[in-house]
This record gives sequence, structure tokens and C-alpha cells, in this order.
Amino acid sequence: MPRLTYEMDMNDPAADAKREAGVRAADLVTDGMVVGLGTGSTVFFAIERLGERIQTEGLHIFGVPTSNQTAMRAEECGIPLVTLMLYPEPDLAIDGADQVDPWKRMIKGRGAAHLREKVVANAAKQFVGVIDACKEVSCLDAAVPIEVLPFACGNVLHRLQEMGGRPTIRNGVKKDGPIISDNGNYVIDCAFGDIADPAALEVMINNIPGVLGNGIFARFTEKTVVIVGGRK
Ligand code: A5P
Repeated sequence: MPRLTYEMDMNDPAADAKREAGVRAADLVTDGMVVGLGTGSTVFFAIERLGERIQTEGLHIFGVPTSNQTAMRAEECGIPLVTLMLYPEPDLAIDGADQVDPWKRMIKGRGAAHLREKVVANAAKQFVGVIDACKEVSCLDAAVPIEVLPFACGNVLHRLQEMGGRPTIRNGVKKDGPIISDNGNYVIDCAFGDIADPAALEVMINNIPGVLGNGIFARFTEKTVVIVGGRK
């Protein structure tokens, strides 16, 4: 079948590590599971591997996609998709991250899918983070992606500045002006420098009216396993 979605960038120096992490995560999946499918270049390999296992082993699973891209990719790989309406508690979710600290707290959202990713991570019984070693940090310090209702954007930017952040509206690539998320909203990237208390910052950002979700994942650490590609 022709590939309708993007191909992976095999010149990515981390491609081998990402593939290994994705494959190891996919191999944790067992027959009958409902699996949250995250978004991005590392999960790409997990989805591909799940498709391979469906074909070769007759693995029987359902996927809950976290983005339009992942839904397309999963369909191409032959993974039957369902929603949280009928399957509100997936057995596990597999997802990538932009940064992970030693306590398994994460920043996500490079691909602007973090709102649905967090819904699925929260819903799932277990969360499997798939990363390459470049994503490991001693302290989270990346700009935090924040999905915001367009109507509220100006005031949210102002509030984030008051909190000591340096927010910018994320612009599109091959699209002038702000990107529009899969949910029809804007995304702000807000730098805070070293984030001393990620859980507190996660709540503070979410408390601004108009914020729909942010890319700090500090609440799922107890049910999180992190697989670092290239390392056993
Ligand atoms: C999607 O919005 C993101 O949260 C990704 O899951 C995260 O950026 C990791 O992506 P890569 O696996 O492509 O690095």
C-alpha cells in the first residue's frame, strides 16, 4: 500500500536509538490490549512494530491515537482504532518526550499534540515513555508548550509574563501565522529557565483561564516506565 503520510528522516542521528526504544515498547504490548498511541518520531517506530506484529503474529489490539498524524500512521500500519468513549482506560500508552528528568517528569509538545497526549496518558493504566539519550536532563528547562483557546491568547501571554515566563506564539512551517492544533487552538511556547518544581508549574499554567493544557507531565511518574533507546 502506498505511504500517504511522511516518511521518517533516516538522517536523524538518533534514528537507531528511537527505533530501538519504539520496538521495545511495542514488544510490551500483549494480545487484547487497548494501547494509547502517542505522537512523534519515536512513537513512529512503535506504531510500525505494532503493525508488523499484527501481520506476523496475529496480535489483536486496538489503538487510541493522540493526533491526526498518528491516526493516519496507525491506519496505514493496520492498527484498528477506537476512542476513549468506548475504551476510557487503555491498558498502556506509548509516547515520546522532549525532555525527561531523573524522576521521570517530562516536557512534551514539540509536535503540538500534548493536549490529547496528556488526556491519553492520564487515562491509561501504564505510561511508557520512549526516548533517546539526548532527551535525558538533570533539570527540565525546555520551553513549555501550552495549548490555548485563541480567544484567550492575549491575556494568557500577559499572565505567563507575570509568572516570569518568556512566551512566544508558535508559528507554522509552510503556513503563515500561528499554527492551529488538531483541536483548533493556538500553541504558546513559554521559557521559564530551570523548572525547580515542575508539578507546581504545571498546575499554575493550567489555572490560567483559556489554557487547555500544557506540556509538563509531572503527575504520571508512578505509572511511568522510561525506555531509553541504545541503553538496556
Ligand atoms: C508531540 O507533540 C510530542 O509531545 C512528542 O511526543 C515529543 O515531542 C517527542 O517527539 P519525538 O519522539 O519526535 O522526539
